[in-house]
Amino acid sequence: MDDRLSILDTSDGSNSISSEKYKATYHSIHGAIEESMHVFISAGLYYKFLHAHTSVKIFEMGFGTGLNAYLTSICSQKIGLEVEYHSLELHPIPAEIYQQLNFHSQIPDTNQLDFLKLHESRWEVLNEINPTFKLKKIKANLEEIDLEGGYDLIFYDAFAPSSQESLWEEPIHKKLYDALSQNGALVTYCAQGKFKRTLKKLGYKLDKLPGPGRKHEMTRAIKD
Ligand SMILES: C[S@@+](CC[C@H](N)C(=O)[O-])C[C@H]1O[C@@H](n2cnc3c(N)ncnc32)[C@H](O)[C@@H]1O
Repeated sequence: MDDRLSILDTSDGSNSISSEKYKATYHSIHGAIEESMHVFISAGLYYKFLHAHTSVKIFEMGFGTGLNAYLTSICSQKIGLEVEYHSLELHPIPAEIYQQLNFHSQIPDTNQLDFLKLHESRWEVLNEINPTFKLKKIKANLEEIDLEGGYDLIFYDAFAPSSQESLWEEPIHKKLYDALSQNGALVTYCAQGKFKRTLKKLGYKLDKLPGPGRKHEMTRAIKD
């Protein structure tokens, strides 16, 4: 399989990456930052903050460009929410790609060093990125890994079911459900009917939320 990655511009001016191997882009082409802010920060991080959390342990499926981690590190600092962020990635992107990404120039009050710090932090250990944000990157396959557990929030950012169907099926989502704490939430951009039925079968309560940009819907699943 071809593993070539190329950088593209999305409609809000922020970059994303296109993967030939998975025949997919890492974010919506209608706006990478817009999608990430809407699905993971507003419906995930801020939702937990509003429910009186002072600290949150997050598991992210797919570190990718590091955009979700970057926005979480910035936003957690702004609102004073302590975050321990574990992010899984099977194919870390090479430095010649992440060094060219333009996210820092699209977000106020940040700079490229803050972004590169995430990519250059060590794998498999907890790194203090800023006073509120700690990051552990884990290089492993979601289909094989045993998850640590005790997560308050899951950022489920796998490629779409049309690219990686098994990552949206019951065996993986049973493992994720078991890794969430009570009242924990899983957020994702995907609102496919089959996937939502799987989540309900596992015992989640689903919040139907509008999706980012032109997207009709996204999913927030609560372990009730
Ligand atoms: C949609 S992208 C993630 C986008 C990322 N959250 C971001 O902000 O850029 C999906 C990611 O999952 C990774 N991936 C694909 N299959 C995987 C697997 N089985 N286990 C772990 N990571 C996987 C891909 O390499 C890719 O980086």
